[in-house]
Amino acid sequence: MTEEVLASASACEDARLRLVFESLVRHLHAFVNEVGLTPAEWLAGVRFLTATGHTCDEFRQEFMMLSDTLGVTSLVDEIAHRASTGASESSVLGPFYTENPPEIARGESIAAPGEGVPLDVRGHVRDTAGAGIPGAVLDVWGTDGGGLYDSQHPDHPVDCRGRIRTASDGGFAFRTVVPSSYSIPTDGPVGAMLQRLGRHTFRPAHLHFRVGAAGFAPLTTAIYLAGDPYLSSDAVFGVRASLIEEFRRDAASGTATLERDFTLAKAAPA
Ligand code: BEZ
Ligand code: FE
Repeated sequence: MTEEVLASASACEDARLRLVFESLVRHLHAFVNEVGLTPAEWLAGVRFLTATGHTCDEFRQEFMMLSDTLGVTSLVDEIAHRASTGASESSVLGPFYTENPPEIARGESIAAPGEGVPLDVRGHVRDTAGAGIPGAVLDVWGTDGGGLYDSQHPDHPVDCRGRIRTASDGGFAFRTVVPSSYSIPTDGPVGAMLQRLGRHTFRPAHLHFRVGAAGFAPLTTAIYLAGDPYLSSDAVFGVRASLIEEFRRDAASGTATLERDFTLAKAAPA
């Protein structure tokens, strides 16, 4: 059976596609053989994937969460960064990124007034030689004072999400609120899978960053709050030691501060 399916792609002229297809078929067939997959289990798998697709919409990407919770997203990421470029480490994008968030001036707040511990964030975007990169664009998003992303609220006004540009020395600054650890959405097939597996569904508190600058490889990453109890058991395997940072709290003002630089590597020549 396996040889027959492999032979079916012999006319494929795209060498990479053929390699990926053949390897996928070999591993899938090996998996089915190894566990002796029953027809009922196969059908349950087909239904699970169908339900995963039906749970996706403009704001919800259940397939992405499936990839994340299986560790595939982080593995792909690790492979892409196997050759050290000197850039900051990356971390999972997650399903809550939105394109073109509202741009704010340096130092302004991306958080609507209300709940949450105020957080001042500042740092520089640098090249691998340490020079600041002017005009780099940072898209930032995090949970609000209630521990949810804005897109998880029924009427989702933009909150704790924005775009900031670096100054001539590569510096950036903005205000938001200290993010919380939170459960990834559990009301879909991925949540049901984690429950059946006896896995918890929490991510440690973090702020997401997408950093881009002309001539540099874009960086998708997150900064994780030191001391969070879920750092060692992130539901989506996104934590890297180099991305854990203290959020210093000033007892007098009640404000927290995060200082963090990002390093971008030059874009690979086309
Ligand atoms: C997030 O960090 O926003 C996230 C990542 C993967 C799955 C769910 C949420
Ligand atoms: Fe997140």
